Amino acid sequence: MYKVKTVFECQSCGASSPKWLGKCPDCGAWNSFVEEKQERVKAIKKDTSSAPQSLASVTLENEDRLSTGIEELNRVLGGGIVSGSLILIGGDPGIGKSTLVLQMLSSLFAENPELKNPALYVSGEESLKQIKLRANRLNISGQQPIHVLSETCMENIFDHVKRMKPSVIVIDSIQTVFTQEIPSAPGSVGQVRECALKLMLFAKGTDTPIFLVGHVTKEGAIAGPRVLEHIVDTVLYFEGDRGHAYRILRAVKNRFGSTNEIGVFEMRDGGLAEITNPSELFLSERPQNVSGTTVVATVEGTRPIMVELQALVSQSTFGVPRRTTIGVDVNRVNLLIAVLEKTGGLHMGGMDTFLNVVGGLRITEPAFDLGIVTTIASSFRELPIREHVFVFGEVGLSGELRGVSHAEARIKEGAKIGFREAILPESNLGRLNANIKPEIKLIGVKDISEAIKAALDI
Ligand code: TYD
Ligand code: MG
Repeated sequence: MYKVKTVFECQSCGASSPKWLGKCPDCGAWNSFVEEKQERVKAIKKDTSSAPQSLASVTLENEDRLSTGIEELNRVLGGGIVSGSLILIGGDPGIGKSTLVLQMLSSLFAENPELKNPALYVSGEESLKQIKLRANRLNISGQQPIHVLSETCMENIFDHVKRMKPSVIVIDSIQTVFTQEIPSAPGSVGQVRECALKLMLFAKGTDTPIFLVGHVTKEGAIAGPRVLEHIVDTVLYFEGDRGHAYRILRAVKNRFGSTNEIGVFEMRDGGLAEITNPSELFLSERPQNVSGTTVVATVEGTRPIMVELQALVSQSTFGVPRRTTIGVDVNRVNLLIAVLEKTGGLHMGGMDTFLNVVGGLRITEPAFDLGIVTTIASSFRELPIREHVFVFGEVGLSGELRGVSHAEARIKEGAKIGFREAILPESNLGRLNANIKPEIKLIGVKDISEAIKAALDI
C-alpha cells in the first residue's frame, strides 16, 4: 500500500506546492490553489522511442492542408488544417465558439467530398437536441457526415473514436471532459492537462486533426493551466465585443503558420458570416468633416486593414487629467501625448483625452502611432483631418517619424477603399517598390509637426 499523495495546484497557471497557499507565487493569483491527488507515474514503455536520424535523411511528406471551406478560418490557421494538429479555440462564453466549429465541420465536408470518415463532435456542455437546434439554425443539412456525442469521460470518448476513426474530432469543451485515471474534478489543472496530453498523443499517432474549445477566465486567459497552450499546436482566440456583431479570430500561437493573422466574422441570425473586406465595414459609419477622427492603415499579420480612430480632447475638471483608451495601449498614448507636448507644441496638460478604435479592434502595432498623434491633434485644434487622407507611421521619442513594414500593402488597401492621399514616414517613401504605381498622392513627412500640418492643412 502506498500513501496517496496530494499536492496543491494553482488553477490559473499550474504551479504546484505541497501545502495550501493563499497567493500563487508564480502568477500572483489569489485563492487559486486546489488540492489534487497525485498518482504515481506509471512506467513508460521503452520500445516506443525512436532512434536518432540525420536531418538530411528525414523526408518531408507533402504537408497537405485540409481546407475548412471558411476562407477567414483558413487564413488564421495558416492555409488550412494540418493533419494531426491540435487546435485550441478560446473565447468568452457566448462569443460563438460552438457555432464556429459546427459551421466549420459542415463546410469542411462540402469542400472536401473525398473525406471518407465522418467527423465527431463531442459536447460536454450541450445535449444532442441543443446541438441539433443550432445545426438547424445554421442550415446544416442532415446529409453531412457529422456525428455528435454528448459525453465527458475521455475513456468512453476514445472507445467511440477508435471504432469510428473520425476524420476530424471536436471536443467542446476541454474543461468539461475528464479522465478516470486521475481523481481530480473536471476543469481542474490536472484533468485539463492530462486530457489534452491524451488527445495530443492520439492526434499525432493517428494524424487526426483535433479541435479543442476552451473557456476563458475573467482576466482573458484560457482557463486551466498555461501548459495547455504549450501542448497544443495552434491557439486561436475568438474575441469581440458583445455589443458589436463583429467577431475576430486571432492566432496567438501557430506551429504551422504566422501568428497575428486575423479572421473577421459577423454574427448573424443564420450563424457566422465571413467579412472578406473588413476595411469597408470598419469605415462604413465614419462621420465626415468632424474633428478628432483619422483613418489609419494598419496591418494585422499580413493583412492590411483600414480602421477609424477617434479622439476626444476636452478641458479637464480634475487636477490630474484623465486618459482613457479603448483598443490601444494607454501607456503608448501617454507617451505620444508627452511627445506632442514637447515637440508638437500642443499643451495637453489640463486636458482629458479619450481614444477609441472603432469596431472593437485592438491594435498594438507601432505604425498606429501617427494615427494617434494626428487624431489627438485634430481634436485638440478642433480641425478635421482633410478628406480622403489616411496615415501610418511609427513615432519616436523626439517626434521623428520612423518607417514601418508593409508600406505598399497599406497604400494599396487605402487606394482600394477610395482614399486619395497618404501621409507616411519619409523613409518609407524612398524604399517603396519602384514598380508599384500608386494611384494616390504620397506625402512623406519627417516629424510629427510636419505630419500634423499636412493632415490638418495648416
Ligand atoms: P455559441 O456558439 O453558443 O457560443 P459559445 O460556444 O462561444 O459559448 O454562440 C451563442 C451566441 O451566438 C448566442 O448568444 C446566440 C448567438 N447566435 C446568433 O446570433 N446566430 C446564430 O445563428 C447562432 C447559432 C447563435
Ligand atoms: Mg459553446
